[in-house]
Amino acid sequence: MRHLLSPLDLSVEEIDQIIAVAEDIEKNPKKYSHVADGKKIATCFYEPSTRTRLSFEAAMLNLGGSVLGFSDAQSSSASKGESVADTVRVVGCYADIIAMRHPKEGAPMVASMYSPVPIINAGDGGHQHPTQTLTDLLTIHAKKGRLDTLTIGLCGDLKFGRTVHSLITALVRYPNIRFVLISPEELKIPSFVRDDVLRKQNIPFEEVDHLEDVMPTLDILYMTRVQRERFFNEEDYIRLKDRFILDQEKMTYAAKDMLVMHPLPRVNEIAVEVDNDPRAVYFEQAQYGVYARMALIMKLLGLEVPAC
Ligand code: NCD
Repeated sequence: MRHLLSPLDLSVEEIDQIIAVAEDIEKNPKKYSHVADGKKIATCFYEPSTRTRLSFEAAMLNLGGSVLGFSDAQSSSASKGESVADTVRVVGCYADIIAMRHPKEGAPMVASMYSPVPIINAGDGGHQHPTQTLTDLLTIHAKKGRLDTLTIGLCGDLKFGRTVHSLITALVRYPNIRFVLISPEELKIPSFVRDDVLRKQNIPFEEVDHLEDVMPTLDILYMTRVQRERFFNEEDYIRLKDRFILDQEKMTYAAKDMLVMHPLPRVNEIAVEVDNDPRAVYFEQAQYGVYARMALIMKLLGLEVPAC
């Protein structure tokens, strides 16, 4: 049985295969409409979500399967004190696969030790978010035609931003990748990424605190929200939240084919005026999330690509 807890749980070949299936799904959605007939996904979300939960549910429905689950820990038996281990043992009797989001780092890993069915980490605290990464890789591949030879700027909350941690962890396995890490001092990338991933593998990266100077060098600018819910005090959040705001004026420094990505939700970090710039792909990125999750569900359930 396979789980997806970190992007490293899939080999590069498997990720490339998921991207290929996802791109075929985009072109031929009807072909896939009965692939998961009779299968069920449970979405167990102990933290708020719009895109991740709904795109998992849309993905399973598009494949012909069905969905069950909870979107709020308060409406589950967690509010009565039930452990994650007990919950997944039970939910695993009702569903064929479980997507779990949890505020505690490592909770989906604990779930995977007790679950009778595959567990997908749909975001664990400030740690990892591997299905957002599949979405991001698919978006980059669809728009740029490659996952190698890229300079990627990641901007905002690199400390708590789990999408950033997972994306870096996945991209370092492709050749000629360079990162520009743009953040305030307090929100720099944590050492479990800087030391254990970037330095360990000699990946070129620089850490800066200004966006304009580095803009012209980027193939991709990945903006992120300051993760308010992970701050210990509100004053720090208020001081840091609007430190980087991408607007049309800053976009004039960017290459003509630079992509602006964002896992969403956006708060203030991208001005609404940027939405109409053809380089802004964050809403398309959310659509790619459905295709990526359809291909992932097929992979983890061992469902074959139909012939036609
Ligand atoms: C992200 C998350 O939950 O980490 N959202 C998402 O899944 N698309 C990013 C965020 O909440 O800022």
